[in-house]
Amino acid sequence: MKILVVGSGGREHAIIRKLKESPKVEKIYAAPGNGGISKDAECVDIGAMDKEKITAFAKENEVDIVFVAPDDPLADGMVDFLTENGIRAFGPKANAAIIESSKVFSKNLMKKYNIPTAEYEVFDDPAKAMEYIEAKNKYPVVIKADGLALGKGVIIAKDHDEARAAVKEIMEDKKFGESGNHVVVEEFLTGPEVSVLAFTDGIALKPMVSSKDHKRAYDNDEGLNTGGMGTISPNPYYTHKVAEICRKTIFEPTIAAMNSENRTFKGCLYFGLMITPDGPKVIEYNARFGDPETQVVLPRLKTDLVDIIEAVIDSRLSELDIEWINDATACVVMASGGYPLAYKKGIEITGLDENGQTEGAVVYHAGTKYQDGKFLTNGGRVLGITAGGKTLDEALEKAYSAVERISFEGAHYRRDIGKTK
Ligand code: AMP
Ligand code: GLY
Repeated sequence: MKILVVGSGGREHAIIRKLKESPKVEKIYAAPGNGGISKDAECVDIGAMDKEKITAFAKENEVDIVFVAPDDPLADGMVDFLTENGIRAFGPKANAAIIESSKVFSKNLMKKYNIPTAEYEVFDDPAKAMEYIEAKNKYPVVIKADGLALGKGVIIAKDHDEARAAVKEIMEDKKFGESGNHVVVEEFLTGPEVSVLAFTDGIALKPMVSSKDHKRAYDNDEGLNTGGMGTISPNPYYTHKVAEICRKTIFEPTIAAMNSENRTFKGCLYFGLMITPDGPKVIEYNARFGDPETQVVLPRLKTDLVDIIEAVIDSRLSELDIEWINDATACVVMASGGYPLAYKKGIEITGLDENGQTEGAVVYHAGTKYQDGKFLTNGGRVLGITAGGKTLDEALEKAYSAVERISFEGAHYRRDIGKTK
């Protein structure tokens, strides 16, 4: 089979390396891919949002399956477009991807179908939002832009002034553009966070092994929110008991709710959960694999990923038994100096072999470029160094010892992955 993976980050690199293990796969393309991905797939110079060109490329090159990994093209209807053109595609259609692309949609869905989540109200008027926040007078309060905002449209305001500034930034200054036309103001929840990705064809739902992201830029969960600075799998807070509650109160009701709304979700559905004192609640849904969750989850997958993808597309996931390796995995993200704010690009990375790898760990490339025999930084998150072990400590030790051999000017990474709540 020939498979085209749309996207260019560490997540896509992890998907591609897993696909490479399949005896069914003869050729992998990435659009547009990155420096490290170019060692595992043929990168084609087509942007991840260009559905016309991607469809034309898939037709010309007799691609069997297009795997659409990022949120934007899913929300924009890339899977709809491919399917209408007779190409098999993995990922939800736009009318289901809205579960991620509109927080107003997902919050209202949860309310309507009694799926546990933080209490909230939606506003399109900044004055009304502030009136509500002042009347509640309960801090911290969480303020979220409605639409996609690269994981940065969520502000946790500690007091009235911070809330005022957040509402202004999102709704008046339009820091996240049109995403800020509506805001969700919600109750601040506490408890450990768990990420659970699940394969679903809209009928069956098969949760993958759990993971934990570390979203803040610096150690001890300090600094700004990022796309994710590191992950571990499994998540120690996701016990069998919690998993059972999640399945009954969150996972299955969500699939049923989407079907009732005529928005059947097929693909990978990501549940961002918080294990609160009142039980597990949904913080957010994503309509895709998480990044960097994928980097610790997929290495533990034993079943052929191609078989799963085909079962999802053909709506026969219930027939498939999905097996996992019992090991633990850890991923440490090395980011550019300054990330998640402004950062430089084009800095040489040392410590990688000619394939962009190093011994004892797998290096998933997130933002790199390969030029004149060298790997250069080309994004905020640059590399995700991942290792597995019999225990989490062993996985962490292997990942960190590989991190120490790799360097580039300004690089920063967290030293406490797997050690925080
Ligand atoms: P989101 O983009 O919705 O996942 O939010 C980003 C991060 O903000 C989450 O991973 C949480 O750490 C935090 N967060 C979001 N909503 C809440 C909430 N209601 N209570 C506490 N923390 C939250
Ligand atoms: N790591 C969180 C996300 O992919 O949105």
